[in-house]
Amino acid sequence: VNSIHVSGERPYEVWLGDGALAQLERAPGRVAVVVDENVERLHGARLRAALAPHDPAWFVLPSGERHKTLDTAGALWDWLGELRLERRERVVAVGGGVTGDLAGFVASTWRRGVPFVQVPTTLLAMVDASVGGKVGVDTARGKNLVGAFWPPAQVLADTTFLATLPVRERWCGLVEVAKTALLAGDPLLSLVEAQLEALADGVAPVEEVVAACVRFKADVVQRDPTEQGERAVLNLGHTVGHALEVAGGFDRLTHGEAVAWGLRATIRLSGLSPGSREARLVARLPAVTLDGLDEGAVLDAMLSDKKSAGGKPRFVLLERAGRSRHGCHVDDDAWRSVVRELLSEGREVAPASRP
Ligand SMILES: NC(=O)c1ccc[n+]([C@@H]2O[C@H](COP(=O)([O-])OP(=O)(O)OC[C@H]3O[C@@H](n4cnc5c(N)ncnc54)[C@H](O)[C@@H]3O)[C@@H](O)[C@H]2O)c1
Ligand SMILES: [Zn+2]
Repeated sequence: VNSIHVSGERPYEVWLGDGALAQLERAPGRVAVVVDENVERLHGARLRAALAPHDPAWFVLPSGERHKTLDTAGALWDWLGELRLERRERVVAVGGGVTGDLAGFVASTWRRGVPFVQVPTTLLAMVDASVGGKVGVDTARGKNLVGAFWPPAQVLADTTFLATLPVRERWCGLVEVAKTALLAGDPLLSLVEAQLEALADGVAPVEEVVAACVRFKADVVQRDPTEQGERAVLNLGHTVGHALEVAGGFDRLTHGEAVAWGLRATIRLSGLSPGSREARLVARLPAVTLDGLDEGAVLDAMLSDKKSAGGKPRFVLLERAGRSRHGCHVDDDAWRSVVRELLSEGREVAPASRP
């Protein structure tokens, strides 16, 4: 088990590896554990044993993005009320990004903020969602519209959890890994090039890749914790990716599948050739069908993106791996035609080619 330090106003450690769960700090008081239902079913016994010394209370969360709402947050506030959770006591989130974002949001607001510990159990949550302190819920109008910056007190990225992660969810994480490799360049890029499919199959050890991604994200967020500037690079591939998610109503494509298409857009908008190292990596990511996605809806979603300014979408572009620029404006005709191109390519993909 290794640790990575994230500095800032409220610094914390990210513990990483097989058995990281045992690094939960001993502290007075109880822990209010919010656990994803699938994680509880698959890992409940091990979790209960590991957390027993910390005087835990349990809340099992129904799985899925559609539960990342103020309604569920309300149920959690009621539960914390019954527990009379005190200000020094901790909330522990055990699950993917949905659990972390939601339980973190509840922790940030309960009694104006109690400490919370992230125990990410998906690859995506380990490499991305659990680090950086963004917490929140969705509203009827869109994803992550209500939230806070509330850094965790600790992150325990116990890679033992990943053994049960379905391959489609694994790819979600790997798309963010590929994104990070494109932003970071070597040595992470070479590592990912060598192991991408083996990581998806669960036959390559994941620790080194997770550590490199966490280190990269930690570096960026400690320089720019509240996304005044540089942190926006983490949105590489996300302008188009997010528009596809919105247009698909969030249940057709996973976040990773949408961002994989978004990274294809990035390659073209950045003017990188199909034979470039960057393009070849992106070509290995899942290309799921975009059949049935309405072109007008995608173009509309591009304009109403959170990241757009003055009605113009903004992009993160790559000069090459390891060199990116955020906040870029692209000619309207250029991004529109790239989106159209990708949609027509995506419609040719047979629905069955999902990994
Ligand atoms: N806060 C941030 O900075 C940030 C960054 C990226 C994404 N996010 C958020 O993260 C969410 C996506 O996270 P996610 O992909 O982890 O989704 P998720 O939390 O919905 O988990 C995906 C699925 O995997 C299951 N699962 C979790 N751990 C498992 C395990 N070990 N074995 C088997 N199944 C398991 C869950 O039950 C769920 O069905 C989105 O809501 C997104 O907005 C937040
Ligand atoms: Zn993402």
